Amino acid sequence: MPINVWDYLREYDELRDEILKAVDRVFSSGRLVLGQEGIKFEREMASYLGVAGGVGVNSGTDAIYIALASLGVKAGDEVITVPNTAVPTVSAIRTLGAKPVFVDIRDDDFLMDVAQIEAAITPRTKAIIPVHLYGQCVDLEPLMRLAEMHGLKVMEDCAQAQGALYKNSQAGSVGHASSFSFYPTKVLGAYGDGGMVLSNDEAALKLARSLRFYGMETQYYSERHGYNSRLDEVQAAILSLKLPLVNGWIDRRRQIAERYNRGLKDSGLSLPAENAHSRHTYYVYVVEHPSDRDGVLDRLAKRDINCNVSYRWPIHIMRGSTDLGYREGQFPVAERKAQRIFSLPMYPHLKDEEVDTVINVLREVV
Ligand SMILES: Cc1ncc(COP(=O)(O)O)c(C=O)c1O
Repeated sequence: MPINVWDYLREYDELRDEILKAVDRVFSSGRLVLGQEGIKFEREMASYLGVAGGVGVNSGTDAIYIALASLGVKAGDEVITVPNTAVPTVSAIRTLGAKPVFVDIRDDDFLMDVAQIEAAITPRTKAIIPVHLYGQCVDLEPLMRLAEMHGLKVMEDCAQAQGALYKNSQAGSVGHASSFSFYPTKVLGAYGDGGMVLSNDEAALKLARSLRFYGMETQYYSERHGYNSRLDEVQAAILSLKLPLVNGWIDRRRQIAERYNRGLKDSGLSLPAENAHSRHTYYVYVVEHPSDRDGVLDRLAKRDINCNVSYRWPIHIMRGSTDLGYREGQFPVAERKAQRIFSLPMYPHLKDEEVDTVINVLREVV
């Protein structure tokens, strides 16, 4: 049996009856879009994070641009983020006609180097997107101080950080707004697409609610240019039943990470470091090989162990970013990491025996 980087079938096996009951409840309710299930799940997510409210949308990508627009980002504005993120962080900025501006990352935790932000601020800068990559948080306190000094908005991209803690706060509760993805692989994954904007700012929440629904506040009357981006009732019902299980699943992810840490010590791989201010959820467990990452991946695949690379190319050197005017060499840490990193199988239903097989085979092939 291959061991894959991620799989949801064991989870489905465990939750099948409850999921099918939830789907049937929605189908029998007479309301398939923007009904009680969505409202209930928005409240539950807001309460999990400890913020004023949430607005369910169709994806994590939509959550980013709707959150940014709700904070006042417009065409021509600049938004500072990192080049080692999922493409959607950047495509969401561009959807608004705003310009992504990159800063490099830290060598120790792969996250935005807050010390580099000030030099990237221009009169056009409107917002900063810290991406809480892999399941731990960017250092938010100095970032919020800097943002306040310059009158900038902070929108936390929490697609990979459901349940992560920054000091004692939930990821997504510190900035002016945050975006979540419920793409199936995520720590809290739907059985399809989904996302949410969360915030303590009631005006931003009201605007997000209008933007996800054609810019309307009253039926059939648009107040502003808007979109169609709604979290459907079926996904909301499934996410609602999964949310109470998330903390236990994160504990299991952390156990698996500890097992990898013990088993791969002195293996020749660099192992992920947990930074001092986060509680890491290990959405992904990322290791580095200094010189032969792709060779290691090939040898693992031949032994039926399928890993992943997130991400193989930093965004500033992708063809799709040519018009942004960046060149290779500008963000050396992100570029070096992209050549060395890969992620090991990680999901809560992975068995200890499988983790041990990954460890043993890895030690042989490195
Ligand atoms: C960091 C990050 N931001 C944004 C997204 C976009 O989320 P979605 O796939 O739900 O649009 C993802 C997920 O792929 C992500 O990992």
